[in-house]
Amino acid sequence: MAAKLRLEDKVAVVTGGASGIGEAAARLFAAHGASVVIADIQDTLGRSVSASISPPGHCTYIHCDVRDEAQVAAAVALAVDTYGRIDVMFSNAGIVGSMAGVLDLELTDLDAALAVNLRGTAAAIKHAGRAMAAAGTRGSIICTASVAAVQAGHSSAAYTITKHAVHGLMKVAAGELGEKGVRVNCVSPFGLATPLVCGALGMSTEDVERVSSEAAVLKGAVLRTEDVAAAALFLASDESAFISGHNLVVDGATTVVGTSLHAAMQNHFARSS
Ligand SMILES: NC(=O)c1ccc[n+]([C@@H]2O[C@H](COP(=O)([O-])OP(=O)(O)OC[C@H]3O[C@@H](n4cnc5c(N)ncnc54)[C@H](O)[C@@H]3O)[C@@H](O)[C@H]2O)c1
Repeated sequence: MAAKLRLEDKVAVVTGGASGIGEAAARLFAAHGASVVIADIQDTLGRSVSASISPPGHCTYIHCDVRDEAQVAAAVALAVDTYGRIDVMFSNAGIVGSMAGVLDLELTDLDAALAVNLRGTAAAIKHAGRAMAAAGTRGSIICTASVAAVQAGHSSAAYTITKHAVHGLMKVAAGELGEKGVRVNCVSPFGLATPLVCGALGMSTEDVERVSSEAAVLKGAVLRTEDVAAAALFLASDESAFISGHNLVVDGATTVVGTSLHAAMQNHFARSS
């Protein structure tokens, strides 16, 4: 028996869909029956990813800089014009920006990160939410946040600030759009090897995967883009029909296990006995 298509006849927009998590999500959404609009600023890559997605004719690329609200509105309009509706917005485009801590933070660097990570997500929620509400679609909006949205210490000051703000924005939007039958959630990955992270840290894929796996609480697994795409697929599909306002953390338990006071106490007593 053929596997059930979890997004059959649905239409999704994926910002930042030319690379990394967004690309994996675009491929997975299409494999599950969705028509997909990839909205990104990497035009050559975005077009090539779009052309390679099967089945043919179910993916379209649009140049969309999420810092420009009109371009985000145009990506939503393209989905409606081309495929007749919008059911899913995966607001995933993001940048790391400056790696500075708060004492060295250039506020222009904070502005740059806010423009993509927060303002871009606000524009995506606004325009997808409006289109869904106007059509009476029980849609799903998913925002890529991060473990840096729930804890400090995982990334730079600017990135951590913007991702906390995305988490807050999601809660605001879930409240408002819930009235219209539209769900809004976050997916929050731990560190994984994508051009974003490898580029920001100057590390190879293998090194990022090794360091991330060593830092994660869950052992024996390596976090990959497909794992995050699978979480986004769940939030996009009707399987999560009553889940809204949730932050689905994909981190192998890492943010729920704190520095162990218990282990420190045991070390203290072992040293003093
Ligand atoms: N990789 C990680 O460890 C990690 C962890 C937590 C969260 N995230 C988040 O995941 C999301 C996807 O990142 P990724 O890791 O897949 O990296 P990536 O670099 O592979 O993908 C990011 C995509 O966003 C696009 N983009 C950047 N600025 C844009 C803009 N102004 N308008 C439209 N598109 C733009 C890029 O062109 C790229 O295709 C980001 O929001 C990132 O913050 C990543």
